Amino acid sequence: MVDVIIEENKSLVGLQTFGLKAQTKYFGTFDSVQALRSLIEKGISPMMVLGGGSNILFAHHYKGLIMQNLIKGIEVTKHFKQSVHVRTGGGHNWHDFVLWAVQSGYGGVENLSLIPGTVGASPIQNIGAYGVEVKDVFVSCEAINLETGKKRIFRKIDCQFGYRDSIFKREAKGKYVITSVTFTLTKFTHQLKTAYGDVVKQLEAKGAWPKPSIADISEAIQFIRKSKLPDPAQIGNCGSFFKNPEVPEEIYQKIKQRHENAPCYPTTPGMVKVPAGWLIESCGWKGKRVGNTGCYAKQALVIVNYGDAEGAEVLQLVQDIIASVQAEFGIKLEPEVQIV
Ligand code: EPU
Repeated sequence: MVDVIIEENKSLVGLQTFGLKAQTKYFGTFDSVQALRSLIEKGISPMMVLGGGSNILFAHHYKGLIMQNLIKGIEVTKHFKQSVHVRTGGGHNWHDFVLWAVQSGYGGVENLSLIPGTVGASPIQNIGAYGVEVKDVFVSCEAINLETGKKRIFRKIDCQFGYRDSIFKREAKGKYVITSVTFTLTKFTHQLKTAYGDVVKQLEAKGAWPKPSIADISEAIQFIRKSKLPDPAQIGNCGSFFKNPEVPEEIYQKIKQRHENAPCYPTTPGMVKVPAGWLIESCGWKGKRVGNTGCYAKQALVIVNYGDAEGAEVLQLVQDIIASVQAEFGIKLEPEVQIV
């Protein structure tokens, strides 16, 4: 057992990127598995783990114990001819890990630059951007069971990764704390992914096309993200609030009869993804402010807090957007963000 401090009635404002006014009854941090086990042994119920707080909406005050993961550190655990395995602490900042990889010359995560949050949260919703998802580089993770304190290794196959989805959002939801993740990264021959959106255009603009390095790609993607997505330090937000819905092609064809330029991306045969940002924008929400909250003017998928919002009013806006997209297009948007 190691000593851990439990704070009472702690404000959550600075602990989540939405910056919503909410409190937790109990709060503690851990920087090792032993400290985590000591927190679990306090027997407070309910309990939950917070990483960077970048994908969570506190609609109410929390009545139990919130534990913040501060387990950091990066270690190369295996060297192969063409690749390395790297184990990173679950509480390590995701973007700092990406910068470390790029600076070390290791490829695979450069497209995931500037995603807020922690390494331990990355497999939970299988974070993704610009044609890469965390599952593409994931080897395994170590997790501690919140009821028993026992360690379990989840291999890639165990995680059942899908689009912004994994076992940690389903059967294993709320049951484990991810204390470290092992990734596989390339050493010399990198699999560069530049086909998505404006990536090539941005690489051309910086004179790095047609032979970009992983550092060029990381910088281009940081530039694109900064131009579209609000910085949580300036305006509270959780990135994309909704998932892009996948629908049968007939539904998309019906939309197209009324909206000739409706975008879509084919996924599996007979199915397409329709950008939720486009659906929301078409319903007139983009840039609209409702009290202390609103839909971001440069990217309709992002819900923002203008300073003093409470979870309940953000949730109301979210429900109104879902209802209006459903009424207009017959498609039910699903939040990507975890609502507590
Ligand atoms: N669009 C609009 N209006 C908008 C926003 C988007 O019409 O206000 C349409 C446009 O047709 C645009 C298309 O949506 O071409 C795609 O937009 P964008 O490339 O910005 O990507 P996204 O689908 O809105 C997804 C991820 C982002 C990720 C980007 C880039 C989801 C839910 N979101 O957004 O992830 O950065 O692609 O890969 O899949 C996040 O998860 O928090 C996140 C930011």
